[in-house]
Amino acid sequence: MPKDIERTLITGQQIARRVAELAEQIARTYEGMDQNRLTLVPILSGSMIFAADLIRQLPMKMKIGLMAVSSYPGMSVTSRGPKLRQQLDVNVAGRHVLVVDDILDTGQTLGLVLEELGARKPASLRTCVLLRKAGRAPQGFVPDFVGFDIEDVFVVGYGLDYNDRYRSEPDIGVLRAGIWRPRQAACTTS
Ligand code: PRP
Repeated sequence: MPKDIERTLITGQQIARRVAELAEQIARTYEGMDQNRLTLVPILSGSMIFAADLIRQLPMKMKIGLMAVSSYPGMSVTSRGPKLRQQLDVNVAGRHVLVVDDILDTGQTLGLVLEELGARKPASLRTCVLLRKAGRAPQGFVPDFVGFDIEDVFVVGYGLDYNDRYRSEPDIGVLRAGIWRPRQAACTTS
């Protein structure tokens, strides 16, 4: 584990088991619907690894459309407000859309994405997040599929980054506070 990671929150094995369960749940939900009309929309960049693992467990036909949104650029640890970096490149009118993201924190990213996609008249619009920080998103904002509820800590690994680092870590871990928040000065002047 890199020294900047304070502790492991979720291991790669736990993630793999949960991704398989989510895929079963998703497959059951879309069973009976016209599966020719499913479009998965992973939100880049953080969800790439989660989406790739999830897609490999989904037995049905699907189109994939990509959107890129950034809320925590560089060394930001609080949301700067979501910026749409890349617009969806496929037509989703009349299709069943499943948005896939790695984490639901303040909910601003998914809020923007759902507004954008809702305007395109999909047949249905659902959301799947691997992680959800309890109590952070607006009340009533409930994703259809959630991997893990987590505490309010800054997490990295399995696609999630801090200043472009740690995306390739197989586990999800808590970033040491001193890395992103200056430690309290050892002595202060009066
Ligand atoms: C992260 C993450 C989610 C979003 C969630 O993206 O991938 O998309 O933040 O935060 P919110 O619920 O507070 O809006 P980030 O801005 O770090 O971009 P990235 O995916 O390219 O790393």
